[in-house]
Amino acid sequence: CGIVGYVGSQSALDVVLAGLRRLEYRGYDSAGVAVLADGGLASARKAGKLANLEKALAERPLPAGATGIGHTRWATHGGPTDANAHPHHDNAGRVAVVHNGIIENFAELRAELADRGHVLASETDTEVVAHLLAEEFSGCADLTEAMRLVCRRLQGAFTLVAVHADEPDVVVGARRNSPLVVGVGEGEAFLASDVAAFIEHTRSAIELGQDQVVELRRDGVSVTDFDGRPADVRTYHVDWDASAAEKGGYASFMLKEIAEQPKAVADTLLGRIGVDGALTLDELRIPAAVLKAVDKVVIVACGTAFHAGLIAKYAIEHWTRIPCEVELASEFRYRDPILGGRSLVIAVSQSGETMDTLMALRHAREQGATVLAICNTNGATIPRESDAVLYTHAGPEVAVASTKAFLTQLVACYLVALYLGQVRGTKWGDEIRAVIRDLAAISGEVGRVLETMEPVRELARSLSGKKTVLFLGRHVGYPVALEGALKLKELAYMHAEGFAAGELKHGPIALIEDDLPVVVVVPSPRGRSVLHDKIVSNIQEIRARGARTIVIAEEGDEAVVPYADHLVRIPATPTLLQPLVATVPLQVFACELATARGNEVDQPRNLAKSVTVE
Ligand code: G6P
Repeated sequence: CGIVGYVGSQSALDVVLAGLRRLEYRGYDSAGVAVLADGGLASARKAGKLANLEKALAERPLPAGATGIGHTRWATHGGPTDANAHPHHDNAGRVAVVHNGIIENFAELRAELADRGHVLASETDTEVVAHLLAEEFSGCADLTEAMRLVCRRLQGAFTLVAVHADEPDVVVGARRNSPLVVGVGEGEAFLASDVAAFIEHTRSAIELGQDQVVELRRDGVSVTDFDGRPADVRTYHVDWDASAAEKGGYASFMLKEIAEQPKAVADTLLGRIGVDGALTLDELRIPAAVLKAVDKVVIVACGTAFHAGLIAKYAIEHWTRIPCEVELASEFRYRDPILGGRSLVIAVSQSGETMDTLMALRHAREQGATVLAICNTNGATIPRESDAVLYTHAGPEVAVASTKAFLTQLVACYLVALYLGQVRGTKWGDEIRAVIRDLAAISGEVGRVLETMEPVRELARSLSGKKTVLFLGRHVGYPVALEGALKLKELAYMHAEGFAAGELKHGPIALIEDDLPVVVVVPSPRGRSVLHDKIVSNIQEIRARGARTIVIAEEGDEAVVPYADHLVRIPATPTLLQPLVATVPLQVFACELATARGNEVDQPRNLAKSVTVE
């Protein structure tokens, strides 16, 4: 969910709505605002996207005020209805609260409140907080103190922002787990889940730590822990390019981000390859002795980042000979994984806030493992809680379905794999140097793929009426197939599945019927030709059963031509690096097909970019 708070002299409603627009990627099931005005509290909330709320506000404007809060929601407790939208209130309508996360003991607190005569209007855990705040405020007449008292009683992960009509110049926030950043302006102050919400007003920011409460007033902010002890705060300057978050002429952020991939890949390599062709990852502050002692690598991630991890496994095991496991972060800690002081756990996350991944890394650290984050967001929770971080430099990714961040996650995974090989001096030393040279050239190859995508777009449009698309691959092409299918599910809401091509005959081949589109990612015919020959046979098998084959193959690969109903060419690359070029046509395919079906590609239904609940 996205949260915004404001106190100052501008119209709070305008500031909060503009901020919410910047945060809509965090959830868009419903939105709401509350403003303190004329000694009272006025609020509005609406199911659906922010535009619905804006329409409602145009019809029934709120009184003008200079203190306000807002929220854009990704539903957890309670469906995406008007009643469940934030802010939530106490019975007297004096307190408004917005919330991100889950309050685990809410049922118990709710029962207590009901016993004391409170009437709860929604099914959400957030409303419980509004009622508790009202109770505590009636005792101490201080919203900040009331917040501290309430936080001490809450279990789970929560970030809360509240206002009270009796303290019209104050906004109070509390953080446990999901992010909350303070913006410090001249005679005004901001609170938000992400600096994007206020960077047009101020670039001076304070990141709240775990279990801290902040009080915002026009003339300053103060931060304490939940017991009221003052906290050390560090103000930093946000040097983020605001224009990067605008669409810059593209019809969607997704199209823009697909087009930015060559730059994102190049930026992620920048400064990391030395003049002698070796890697210089000084920022990766893990002592060489620790890296040399690593006896097992475990990658944890979710969604698209998980697919990057699956590809990384092939590279890590091949280049370093260290066993590598890849696990969905949401499964990891619940199966009692075997970890120790020599395990290296790599947490891959674009946002750095994904709760499943965060919990997996905490578990890994408790078991004594060294944790390395691969992350695209500076200062996010996952890198902060890891032993070391390798940042991807994709720039802000706004579209919910990940594209450029995925390619840079791959680059970062390759860098880590190669670096491990370099530090450990494995017998692959020469191969490593050759791969580093190939990596350095790859952003140009990604650019070349992008220039040849018109036939892919045409094909996607022609398939918009289909119900199912299957994706096949072998070796690193298998996770690419999974990613192609995920993109299509996310964006086009179609049944799409990725399979290991060799596994097809063990069951999924029964799905093949006349004219079913099947996308096949073909490995390079050079080097590992056995792999190539096997997949050519697989293409023949499905074609013989009526499939319409869409073949993604290297330039110059003539063996596939007779069996391809549609042929998409990609530049020749070493097998392990092929995902960097092979994924791009699949992104374009999904984006175009979804657009042809009338879907909004930047904000697919039911999803959120940053999922801060488990
Ligand atoms: C959400 C998004 C996915 C993303 C996943 C992991 O589910 O919808 O697109 O891949 O989270 O996100 P992260 O920020 O951890 O990479």
